[in-house]
Amino acid sequence: MLSVTKPGLVLTGVGSAIPSTCLNNHQLSHIVDTSDEWISTRTGISSRRLLDNDASLTTLATQAAQKALSMAELSPTKLDLIILATSTPDDLFGSAGKIQAELGASQALAFDLTAACSGFVVALITAAQFIRTGVYRNVLLIGADALSRWLDWEDRRTCVLFGDGAGAVVLQANECDRLLGFALCTDGRLNHCINLSYDSVGKTLVDQIDVGQGNYRQLTMDGKLVYRFVVEQVPEIIDKALYYAGMSIDRVDWLLLHQANKRIIDAVAKRLEFPEEKTINNLAEYGNTSAASIPLALDESVRQGKICSGDIVAIAGFGAGLTWGAAIIQWDR
Ligand code: ACO
Repeated sequence: MLSVTKPGLVLTGVGSAIPSTCLNNHQLSHIVDTSDEWISTRTGISSRRLLDNDASLTTLATQAAQKALSMAELSPTKLDLIILATSTPDDLFGSAGKIQAELGASQALAFDLTAACSGFVVALITAAQFIRTGVYRNVLLIGADALSRWLDWEDRRTCVLFGDGAGAVVLQANECDRLLGFALCTDGRLNHCINLSYDSVGKTLVDQIDVGQGNYRQLTMDGKLVYRFVVEQVPEIIDKALYYAGMSIDRVDWLLLHQANKRIIDAVAKRLEFPEEKTINNLAEYGNTSAASIPLALDESVRQGKICSGDIVAIAGFGAGLTWGAAIIQWDR
């Protein structure tokens, strides 16, 4: 009888890029009524990187992608698919196409995926479906955001939290499957908790025909509500992903959560009874970089020799939607 083996996927490369401009908490205290003490004790953030006015997210994302491709030793011409997880593209029609051109990945389909701070995890699982069904073999997945463009720099409750950055991974079809388990959720009833919404202004074209000619509002967030929700739901979804992976938390080497708040990382680790020293945390330097935060932290941890070949990493994203998700992966490079 003919045996057909379904392809699995392995992560063969990771890379990241950050803007050179840095804004620390002390400088922020000249912009809004805040202090280094408040920001660092409530969030763990000390500084963040910001994309300059004349810089493009596409270029930053392309730099991260090139580093990931170089680690994977994969030519861009071999890519079948590029997914850019972002909520802040240079172009509302999507920026993945431009990245495809800048990389010279002429054979790749390229599209954007919007799922805010869960974008990387949702894009990872989306990419996995294309590989597991045998449709594509080589996929580039980028998480990149420049929320600085959409912050209200007069709102101390939000502007202190975010930074800009990009991270990328290369996923390739393989006999082994290093995506061991995953779970994803959305609760749209809580959509009002984090928004970057369109504000319509009517324009009358002719009698009785009005169209909207508005703009996007700055980011708004009910931080307290999101905090409580995340601390409750993220441990549960990690448990669910572990269940699908057929393993318990003590098999996990590293917990890599979306970098939103150090207190959230600590609280989730505590609920999972997971050792704090095995949580990945680079919030101090970058703040919340939205879809970029997980691949950025993964890249740093791999290049620092923290995450080693064979290590099992539980990753979890959460954010606007509200959407949240977890994936259990094995780094095998
Ligand atoms: N500096 C000084 N004081 C401040 C600041 C600031 N930057 N921001 C708020 N405060 C004040 C408030 O006005 C309030 O003062 P009051 O008691 O006099 O009213 C006090 O500090 C406490 O404010 P809280 O909002 O209760 O502070 P909290 O401890 O909840 O921390 C935070 C706020 C950091 C936002 C936290 O709630 C959080 O991390 N939430 C989760 C955010 C998150 O994970 N988002 C998801 C991803 S984002 C995405 O998807 C795009």
